Amino acid sequence: MNPKREQQTIVVGVTGGIGAYKACELVRDLMRRGFRVKVVMTEAATRFVTPLTFRTLTGEPVAVSLWADEPDSRVHHISLAEEADVVVLAPCTANVIAKLAHGRADDMLTTTVLAAEAPVIVAPAMNTHMWRKDITQANVSALRARGFVFIEPGKGALACGDVGEGRLADPATIADAAEAEARRARDLAGVHVLVTAGPTHEPLDPVRFIGNRSSGKTGFAIAEEAARRGARVSLVTGPVSLPDPFGVEVVRVTTALQMRAAAFARFEAADVVIASAAVADFRPATFASGKIKKSDAPDAVVLARNPDILAELGEANDGRAILVGFAAETSDVVAYAREKLAAKRLDLVVANDVSGELGFETEENRVVFVSADSAEERPVLDKRVIARELLDRVAALVSARKAR
Ligand code: CTP
Repeated sequence: MNPKREQQTIVVGVTGGIGAYKACELVRDLMRRGFRVKVVMTEAATRFVTPLTFRTLTGEPVAVSLWADEPDSRVHHISLAEEADVVVLAPCTANVIAKLAHGRADDMLTTTVLAAEAPVIVAPAMNTHMWRKDITQANVSALRARGFVFIEPGKGALACGDVGEGRLADPATIADAAEAEARRARDLAGVHVLVTAGPTHEPLDPVRFIGNRSSGKTGFAIAEEAARRGARVSLVTGPVSLPDPFGVEVVRVTTALQMRAAAFARFEAADVVIASAAVADFRPATFASGKIKKSDAPDAVVLARNPDILAELGEANDGRAILVGFAAETSDVVAYAREKLAAKRLDLVVANDVSGELGFETEENRVVFVSADSAEERPVLDKRVIARELLDRVAALVSARKAR
């Protein structure tokens, strides 16, 4: 994806189903909407529609084989993946859904999808029984959890003679979804986002510390997604075992005081602050420079209060930056979140109920987006999907503030 390029590129992947003929209409519709369209097909798809049809419609070469001689010396599936602002798979068979759900990449289309950083929209089309099978639905859920966007198949008479769900959605509906994703792919361009993530460790001596179980996954997912949508991202993180997200400035710190310094150093330039860090509220009041021996164990550890970084940022904010906080609650989730919203002068609080199994060290979470006048309860979602939904709301807040 090249943020400087004016015209956005949609890569349409066509797989082997009778609905492949409708992909011609989809391609034309996307081109009418101003997109550059490149088509990649599976071998099976070429049995239904020829590559020449798509080549003629798009004026672009059509990719089918991983082994074809390319005039362009770059590795084709990688260059296609990089060019894509959005990938649309229509129609997508049960077989290709299954391959993608397991990360398989054994042809041009699946390899391109695996290499793509862009959002992927899947419009399935298949026989009703195949669509309803547990295994297909499990594969769909697995992909949904990883952020793939599905456009449900429609009901009606199917090519095989059955009547039921399985028809490829209307091409205009698929094009609408692709257009919405393309808009989203750029909606944070030029915005500087500061994210805090992970726990902090407050040392007692050189080997012991007070900390918590935060994995940093949510904050890292937010930073990664914001960068993908065009933002300049600074991620200030406590000790976690996650790799640096691509294209993000990562500042690794240990203690709350270090996190505060790193966050304040970047606050001036920030348009948005998302504080997902689980900052330790207390630190040992004294630090022993040598390891404390068993025999010298103190009867009690005296604690000192750590600064509330987000509250301090809220105080320093002149209304310019949008501030988002997190709240971990075990009861009265919305009421407590609203208290935090007001006390820390935030625009939005992502509240989660940590009384159950979800929250720390899990891949999923259930959150409520709480603002001064709304509370949106979301179902259990993968942390990456939560990051995406959060940034949808942040992008709306940014454009509302710009319009003021
Ligand atoms: N936060 C912070 N610095 C702190 C404590 C919290 O920046 N020292 C931020 C967190 O990153 C998060 C929000 O403030 O965005 C959480 O607020 P907090 O009042 O700590 O709420 P809970 O963690 O839910 O804890 P409690 O309800 O016990 O206050």
